[in-house]
Amino acid sequence: MTTPRGPGEGAIPTSTTFKGLRTTGEPLREGDSVIFFDRKDREYLKTLRAGETISIRGGTIAVDDLLGKPDGVSVRSSHKERFVVLRPTLERLIPNLPRKAQVIYPKDLGLILMWGDVYPGATVVEAGVGPGALTLALLRAVGPEGRVISFELREEHARAAERNVARYYGVAPQWTLEVGDVTEGLRDLTVDRIFLDLPEPWRQTDLAWRALRPGGVFMGYVPTVLQVKGFVDSLKEHGGFACVDTMETLVRYWNVKEMSVRPQHRMVAHTGFVTTARRIEKEPSSPPQPNRVERGGESVEGRET
Ligand SMILES: C[S@@+](CC[C@H](N)C(=O)[O-])C[C@H]1O[C@@H](n2cnc3c(N)ncnc32)[C@H](O)[C@@H]1O
Repeated sequence: MTTPRGPGEGAIPTSTTFKGLRTTGEPLREGDSVIFFDRKDREYLKTLRAGETISIRGGTIAVDDLLGKPDGVSVRSSHKERFVVLRPTLERLIPNLPRKAQVIYPKDLGLILMWGDVYPGATVVEAGVGPGALTLALLRAVGPEGRVISFELREEHARAAERNVARYYGVAPQWTLEVGDVTEGLRDLTVDRIFLDLPEPWRQTDLAWRALRPGGVFMGYVPTVLQVKGFVDSLKEHGGFACVDTMETLVRYWNVKEMSVRPQHRMVAHTGFVTTARRIEKEPSSPPQPNRVERGGESVEGRET
C-alpha cells in the first residue's frame, strides 16, 4: 500500500501523539507543515523532512538547518533570499489547503462558527466535505467532547479530506466521515447543528428539521442569489424554522506602508451567502416567523415598539 500524499506534501503523520496544526510555541519538528513567507509576504506551504532540501524560488534550503529552531525563524536560501518560516494558523492554512474542490474561505468560516453557534461538545453534521476546510474548523470548535459527522458524495473528495484532517488536525476520534448522499445520512440522526455546502440545500430542509434538536441551527452556504432564494423559500414554506437570516461577509485588507495607508486594490469580492435558521415547533396552518424589524440603525429583530 502506498502512503497517500497531497500536492507538494510528504507522508501523513500517523503517530497518535501528533497534535496537528497547532501554533503552540514548540520548536520546528520533523513532519511539520510550515509556510515560508518571502519578503513580499508570498506564501509557500511545505513539509519539513529531515535530510531533505526544500526548493523555493529557484534556491534551496536544507531542512536540517530548520529542525529545532523556533517557530518564526528567519532563513536564507542558497540564493541568499530571506524567508520567515511559520507554522500556519488555520486562517493561513485554508487558502493553501491541498484541494480538488472549492473550500469555504476563512472569512466565511468565522461567520459560520459564530452564527452557527458551534460550541465545545456540540454534535454537528456537515455536507459536502470537499477538501475539509469546514471540517477542520468544526473539529476544533466542538473539541474532543463534541462530534462532527460529515457526508461527502465523492470518494476522491472524502479521501482528500481524510488526508487533510490527518495532516492538519491529527487523530480525530470525534469525527465520522461517510461517503454518500447527506439526504440518506440525515435520516437516522439527532444533532445540534447542520451545515450544508451543496448546490441544492432546499432538498434537505425537511430532513434537517427532523434531525435537529429543538432550537438547533440549520445553515446553508451557496454562491448565487437564485440558490439563496430557493433555500430561504424552502425554510419559510416549511413552517418549522424561524430566525431565517441571509448574509455575506466582505473582508478588505489594508495597505499600511509609510504614508500610503489605504485599502488594498485587490480583494476576494464574492465567495458565498450564508443562510441561518433555527428549528422551531411546526404549526402547519401558519408558519411562525418572529416579529421582524429591518436591521440597521437602532432597529432590532423582534423588538416591540
Ligand atoms: C464546495 S465542496 C465543499 C467544500 C467544503 N465545505 C470545505 O469547506 O472545504 C462541495 C462538496 O459537496 C459534495 N456534495 C454535493 N452534493 C452532495 C450531497 N448530496 N451529499 C454529500 N456531498 C455532496 C461535492 O462532492 C463536493 O465535494
